[in-house]
Amino acid sequence: MTDSPYDLVVIGSGPGGYVAAIRAAQLGMKTACVEKYPTLGGTCLNVGCIPSKALLDSSEHFHHARHGLAAHGIRATAELDLATMMGRKDKVVKDLTRGIEGLFRKNQVTWIKGAARLRSATKVEIGGEAPRVIGSRRILIATGSKAAGLPGIAFDGSRIVHSTDALTLEAVPRRMLVIGAGAIGLELGSVWMRLGSEVQVLELMERALPGMDQKSASLLQRALEKQGMKFRFQASARSARVEGESVRVTVAEGGATREEACDVLLVAVGRRPYTEGLNARELGVRTDERGFIQVDSSYQTSVPGIYAIGDVIPGPMLAHKAEEEGIAAVEMMAGVAGHVAYECIPSVVYTWPELASVGLSEEDARERGIEVAVGAFPFLANGRARAMEERDGQVKIIADAKTDRILGAHIVGPRASDLIAELAFAMELGSSAEDVARSVHAHPTLPEAVREAALAVGKRAIHI
Ligand code: FAD
Ligand code: NAI
Repeated sequence: MTDSPYDLVVIGSGPGGYVAAIRAAQLGMKTACVEKYPTLGGTCLNVGCIPSKALLDSSEHFHHARHGLAAHGIRATAELDLATMMGRKDKVVKDLTRGIEGLFRKNQVTWIKGAARLRSATKVEIGGEAPRVIGSRRILIATGSKAAGLPGIAFDGSRIVHSTDALTLEAVPRRMLVIGAGAIGLELGSVWMRLGSEVQVLELMERALPGMDQKSASLLQRALEKQGMKFRFQASARSARVEGESVRVTVAEGGATREEACDVLLVAVGRRPYTEGLNARELGVRTDERGFIQVDSSYQTSVPGIYAIGDVIPGPMLAHKAEEEGIAAVEMMAGVAGHVAYECIPSVVYTWPELASVGLSEEDARERGIEVAVGAFPFLANGRARAMEERDGQVKIIADAKTDRILGAHIVGPRASDLIAELAFAMELGSSAEDVARSVHAHPTLPEAVREAALAVGKRAIHI
């Protein structure tokens, strides 16, 4: 049976797909979104951003109750109720995924349950209990990504795990080994460390968060080390096997290999684009050597009428990048001027302190031969941070030495994730460091550290 054709069928309901579907419907397109999982929201809402942040927030409360309250003159004892913590996380996820169902109803987006397979540039086959074919003028692939593995290490779902399983462990591991000092390794490593695990992170490169501003990443590393996280660089795991209650891991480090034991091994070495069962390549949709779908500036693939956005195409694997691409893609389909400012996409590591970044790192800027002026301001000198008993980290702003235009900003500190928004917006507007320095910031607030860093670019910070 063939339904009456849609203007747009979106495959995948992650932040890329569901946002694109809603925007397309707002623009007057008859839109459907196909999702093979029983709930909407994709990786981000079900097994990514949201459950990880729910556990980060809960575990931070626990850690603070145990280690942070005494300094405020509060004596308290804290006991962990892991089942309730997990239950709260699951409820947050459930409420938010249901919220998308409501948004689909409100915007008249049809939710089609089942796995989609491309039959042509205008026909999509839906598998599942009631297989059928639907027609569409255009198709948008938003099938996202899946955790990458390592050769010689097979996931078993409970002891050798990827991020999804690490969000549902039933007990706090005594010893957790994490492979990869990227966002997932540091965030989920933090969760379990705060709840009582001894956490060691093995990283192939010579530092944590290798892609991020070096000084900022090293400030975060030191703060995490103070909390008890251990790092081993230029190290990796070659193989792993479960033996009773423990995992025996062969670790390669400093030219030697040796066997070590842990209770849980978390592999967090990146994610890969997901197109399994889609029949896209067979139809002529070109991918690069790593499997990412190639698109042009309007997100159209090599097959006219088939578009792609989000984690399945090149670029940072971030929910807000997927969302912006989804909006831009459908706006361009509708003849509206969609655009994504890739140079202004913030990224955040939600540890405590947090690390938030936008634009060029100091190393990137120098590598490009740009003469830069750098301003930094430590939270140690910010009144509100001191009132909160927060001392770690700094705001760092990188500006063009000639024009003063902000090229990048990197914040390690309390609520860096919120603070970076001002600087991402400033960059989007093409602002100078002086623009930020001259805008009035309420006192006493954390954003005053942003203003002071902007003042420091011109060597006129007041409080250092
Ligand atoms: P996805 O969210 O992966 O969604 C793709 C959807 O397509 C899935 O629901 C899948 O079931 C569906 N699908 C696939 N194939 C088919 C098919 N053939 N038919 C029907 N449906 C199909 N990013 C951030 O910005 N901030 C964070 O804090 C953050 N935290 C993260 C934490 C973790 C643990 C992980 C794993 C990721 C995190 N990310 C974070 C990354 C973020 O989740 C992704 O960048 C984002 O989800 C990508 O969105 P997407 O729409 O491209 O794809
Ligand atoms: P990642 O790419 O951020 O980090 C992986 C790390 O593993 C890198 O430092 C890499 O050098 C290291 N590595 C690779 N192979 C290795 C090996 N064999 N041995 C030891 N180390 C090795 O990937 P991650 O952390 O898995 O996250 C996947 C994606 O999800 C990222 O693209 C990230 O953007 C996204 N994400 C975003 C979050 C956020 O925005 N806060 C949170 C979690 C994930």
